[in-house]
Amino acid sequence: DWNSGNVIAEQVDRIRAQVGSGRVLSALSGGVDSAVSTALVHKAVGDQLVAVFVDHGLLRKGEREQVEQDYVASTGVRLVTVDARETFLEALAGVSDPEQKRKIIGREFIRAFERVQRELVDEAKADGEPIRFLVQGTLYPDVVESGGGAGTANIKSHHNVGGLPEDLQFELVEPLRTLFKDEVRAIGRELGLPDVIVGRQPFPGPGLGIRIVGEVTADRLEILRDADAIAREELTKAGLDAEIWQCPVVLLADVRSVGVQGDGRTYGHPIVLRPVSSEDAMTADWTRLPYDVLSRISNRITNEVREVNRVVLDVTSKPPGTIEWE
Ligand code: XMP
Repeated sequence: DWNSGNVIAEQVDRIRAQVGSGRVLSALSGGVDSAVSTALVHKAVGDQLVAVFVDHGLLRKGEREQVEQDYVASTGVRLVTVDARETFLEALAGVSDPEQKRKIIGREFIRAFERVQRELVDEAKADGEPIRFLVQGTLYPDVVESGGGAGTANIKSHHNVGGLPEDLQFELVEPLRTLFKDEVRAIGRELGLPDVIVGRQPFPGPGLGIRIVGEVTADRLEILRDADAIAREELTKAGLDAEIWQCPVVLLADVRSVGVQGDGRTYGHPIVLRPVSSEDAMTADWTRLPYDVLSRISNRITNEVREVNRVVLDVTSKPPGTIEWE
């Protein structure tokens, strides 16, 4: 029967057999799957592994610190962080179309990753061994879905933004290929990863870039980051994290509405709360959050986040609405 200790021991043996004394790269996104697969490979081959975290500037508050501090402290993994914030912002300037944003973010991610790859290979030349292996946090449902129809394959393709740069030459190490999400979480806990990482709700690879309806700018990112942090904090405080699948917080940057704050008229942006309940993100329903929690989130966001004078609730199921707004 299933036991996380056995699975870990078995995968550690397999990983060692596959990579031998070779060096291994892993792209950390901050998400559960890449975190656990990286920790597993690290347990197997130690310092032969280098984890890479690309900070594209589209992260939520505290995310980079979570990876750099909590993750490294609990695993001891060697981490390289690439600060690509400016590059991403420049590439996204003037772009409002959702699909175009995704393409740009995917392309810039690959470029950032390639830069690290080149630097690490140079460094590795001293011992004559370029990096050949790449860790992927592929789960069993991903494997099944990739073999599915055109529709599913297409849905999956955007999931890999932030994951595998497809045209890079690597041999893949995929220690989670036979596992489901709850099993991955169990293994993560057994490996000593903190709950803030193992218990994380899904977050899209393109990050806040697809939660700003309109052009992505540094100012708008800051507004959204602040609003998102408040919503997450209040949901956690209310003990609702396990009940909701995820709660995207969206900034309608191209919309303004009239409000009154303090003793003056304002003309600010709305923030949308999109709490959803779901089994697998293929379908979803809007979560009936308690009114007092919604009220606290709304009050705090409009009081604490400049530029936001209205908070609205998305009450659409999926279908017809997707979970994300873009
Ligand atoms: P949608 O919006 O299609 O989202 O209902 C379904 C689930 O997928 C996540 N999502 C993404 N994840 N890269 C990702 O890694 C993406 O480009 C992406 N787009 C959506 C979304 O957060 C939800 O959990």
